[in-house]
Amino acid sequence: MNQPNNKWQHRTATILLVVFALGVLMGVSLAGCAAKKPKTVVGFSQMENDSPWRITETNSIKQEAAKRADRFELIVTDAQGQASKQVADVKDLIARGVNAIFLAPREYDALAPALQAAKEVKIPVFLIDRLAAGKAGEDYVTFLGSDFVAQGANAARWLVAETGAKANIVELTGTPGSSVARDRSQGFNEQVKTRPNMKVIASETADFSREKAQQVMADIIKSKGKQFNAIYAHNDQMALGAIEALKAAGMQPGKDALIIAIDGERAALEAIIRGEMNATIESSPRFGPLAFDTLERYLNKIRVPAKITVEDRLYDKNNAKEYVDEAY
Ligand code: AHR
Repeated sequence: MNQPNNKWQHRTATILLVVFALGVLMGVSLAGCAAKKPKTVVGFSQMENDSPWRITETNSIKQEAAKRADRFELIVTDAQGQASKQVADVKDLIARGVNAIFLAPREYDALAPALQAAKEVKIPVFLIDRLAAGKAGEDYVTFLGSDFVAQGANAARWLVAETGAKANIVELTGTPGSSVARDRSQGFNEQVKTRPNMKVIASETADFSREKAQQVMADIIKSKGKQFNAIYAHNDQMALGAIEALKAAGMQPGKDALIIAIDGERAALEAIIRGEMNATIESSPRFGPLAFDTLERYLNKIRVPAKITVEDRLYDKNNAKEYVDEAY
């Protein structure tokens, strides 16, 4: 007689148990949803990836994004050395819905429209390694990079000391229209001008490129002869190109002409160790940790200064061996 009632009780208990389990499951997943913040999507607009310096910079940003993958997602673009493509890349990143942009601007004025486009939709931009026209705190959040004027001035001071302030100098300049080429030239020439026996006898652009520098240097040797005893190149790649041109002309790089450049690439430190190059001022491309730390500060509403300057050391025959293994 009790049987149907028992069956009914058993069914009710089972239903209640299922409802309870579902409730617990839903509660857990809702709590999970509430705790899980969406990732910040960061766009990195790189100007090109054609040298160890640029490749190291891109990898540094990628590696740091991977370390913080629980909070960030990264999209990288490559403008292949064209400022107009870089503006289009930034607009594309905006269209893809990024929350913040790291921008390594190829040229100063030409990238202003990219800053404007991001500003219109309130996407914060962090300038990395070069400046673009605009104001920190208004058109972009901050600039992370070296003091390029100081780099140029330090290169000149090193030459002053090594030549006894007597030098006929060839200057190989970086990309025209870039803040870095402008400032490295300014810092260097300000120092040289105050020394009556130091003269820049030729100043030509080689666009930060090793191949172009080899050609430009060969042309300078053809037109000016070998009447120079120093070369100042705005980056190591151009110094390495110049070394090839000197060798082809029967000169001894590092001896017939002292060679100083900027960056601190492994190939430059090796050239210093061989005695073919004399010094290079560091300009680190490893921006990943600093860029993401700065972005996190910004997202956490901690004040970010208008400029974050990276310290650089000088490498020459006294310390090149010590640092070559950690160079890129
Ligand atoms: O903006 C930094 C400069 O750009 C580096 O010195 C150079 O090698 C790079 O192309």
